[in-house]
Amino acid sequence: MSNNSEEQITQNVLDSMAHTPDARLKQVMSSLVSHIHTFLREVELTQEEWALGIQFLTRTGHMCDEKRQEFILLSDITGVTMLVDAINHRLPGGATESTIFGPFYREGAAELPMGATISKDGRGEPVVVMGSVLSTDGTPIPGALLDVWETDENGLYEQQDPEQPEMNLRGKFRTDSLGRYCFVGIKPVSYAIPDDGPVGQLLRTLGRHPFRPAHIHLLISADGFAPVTTHLFVKGDHSMVRYTCCPFLPVLATSDIRSRKWPTENDYPSVLASCKDVTPTLSGADRRGAML
Ligand SMILES: [Fe+2]
Repeated sequence: MSNNSEEQITQNVLDSMAHTPDARLKQVMSSLVSHIHTFLREVELTQEEWALGIQFLTRTGHMCDEKRQEFILLSDITGVTMLVDAINHRLPGGATESTIFGPFYREGAAELPMGATISKDGRGEPVVVMGSVLSTDGTPIPGALLDVWETDENGLYEQQDPEQPEMNLRGKFRTDSLGRYCFVGIKPVSYAIPDDGPVGQLLRTLGRHPFRPAHIHLLISADGFAPVTTHLFVKGDHSMVRYTCCPFLPVLATSDIRSRKWPTENDYPSVLASCKDVTPTLSGADRRGAML
């Protein structure tokens, strides 16, 4: 066999990595090279397409800075993020499905009292989000920490929008002695992922839209339990029909209950009281909190 035959080229690269000291790295790289070579043979990639791919990845890298992570967007729209997440979070029955973390989380949100609002600018339609964090056997988990974040009514996270106060629409909440949580956010809106870069161009070329369904992000953790990253969605959001980042994600929840006024931390009892009136619609917020 010629040393430059298509199959021999693959084998040559694999041989060159045979003495990789790190066994896991060797496994990952060998598999990656094998699959890439198989892909190239399968589609019979042209040199023009190869150059286009190199240019695309180069532009994707150039788009990244401390606030913009174009490679995560690329990972999201190709399902890589969700697949890696699913592989690493195989859960027992009853646990809430883990979903993508997204690029807009920020550490350092303030811990707020039960029932407090995460809005610092008063824009948007207030919504009360309440429910319980439970173990998979249904036991309430006191002291679980919910780290929540969402966009403003304009569809922008605070770090994307110089008009918003620092850390707007972010907050942490702890469940009470009965495992309950309650906070006030704003009714989430559908927003487009950043589509002014190469990933946005790719979506348009593929005939896909850049919109994500309206959602509130939650990162829930508790001592002795596996953490879960999840979302609350608005029931009936038409964007769910073609979900850009995760076409197969089930609808977890709806929590679009308007409060009667902007509650404050001092309104916690009245917030709960007003929610009791509409408890039957709070289906999503009561789903189990993904605990192992
Ligand atoms: Fe988001």
